[in-house]
Amino acid sequence: MQGTFYVIGVGPGDPQLMTLKASKILQNCDTWFVPSAFENGGSMALKIVEGAVDSKGKTILSHHFPMKQVQRGKAPDAEVQGAWNEAAKTIMEYLDSGKDVAFPTLGDPAIYSTGFYVCETLEEYGSSFNLEIVPGVSAIGATSAASAMPLCLGDERLVVIPATFEDDKIKELLALSDVVVFMKVCKVMDKLVALLDELGLVEKAVLVEKCSLEDQKIWRDVRQAVGQKIHYFSTMIVRK
Ligand SMILES: C[S@@+](CC[C@H](N)C(=O)[O-])C[C@H]1O[C@@H](n2cnc3c(N)ncnc32)[C@H](O)[C@@H]1O
Repeated sequence: MQGTFYVIGVGPGDPQLMTLKASKILQNCDTWFVPSAFENGGSMALKIVEGAVDSKGKTILSHHFPMKQVQRGKAPDAEVQGAWNEAAKTIMEYLDSGKDVAFPTLGDPAIYSTGFYVCETLEEYGSSFNLEIVPGVSAIGATSAASAMPLCLGDERLVVIPATFEDDKIKELLALSDVVVFMKVCKVMDKLVALLDELGLVEKAVLVEKCSLEDQKIWRDVRQAVGQKIHYFSTMIVRK
């Protein structure tokens, strides 16, 4: 019988934010396919998992996924597509041999996660496989909790976007919503803060860097983040 592919959300960093279900499946699954953002680099997802589950005796397959922009409706960069193809091929070999494969992914798999791209690639191969997605605590919820900034109350509208969007799109979405969560803010922080300033919203923003990790930092005055080296694990909430 074919194995099951588990895509498992492992939360934003603190292993205590992993769900019992995530821990249990990882404990019971002998093969972990772990994403790493850097070639020959470590995997943040693996680090989180190892804080909660013993990795001794596990087959750990580390795979590099390049961090490049993906635009839906457009063909992905060849390097990105190549990484998804290779991952899907290896995973399928394990599934076909009857082994279960666990793919731990940062936060929640539903939000900007490589896990779903790998699932889509497996499906494009025409393979039928057993799939289980395990939700996790997203950086969105964790950032809200750390800053005590609610995401939406009453009839408020919430939008989640990558901060790398064009300025016009960001302006349009800010106008349409009550709360905007900006992910992937690190590279565009200065531009984003300038835009919020121009719109009179800079005081409505909070930035959480390395949320739930030991060196978590909360920026209540996001102007202070301008010109600073901000970590990739940073999320901003703007509550109008
Ligand atoms: C590729 S997305 C992955 C999101 C993830 N699937 C989730 O549900 O949180 C990466 C972005 O998530 C956010 N992020 C991930 N971990 C974080 C953390 N510990 N603190 C703050 N933001 C984080 C950042 O905005 C980062 O640029």
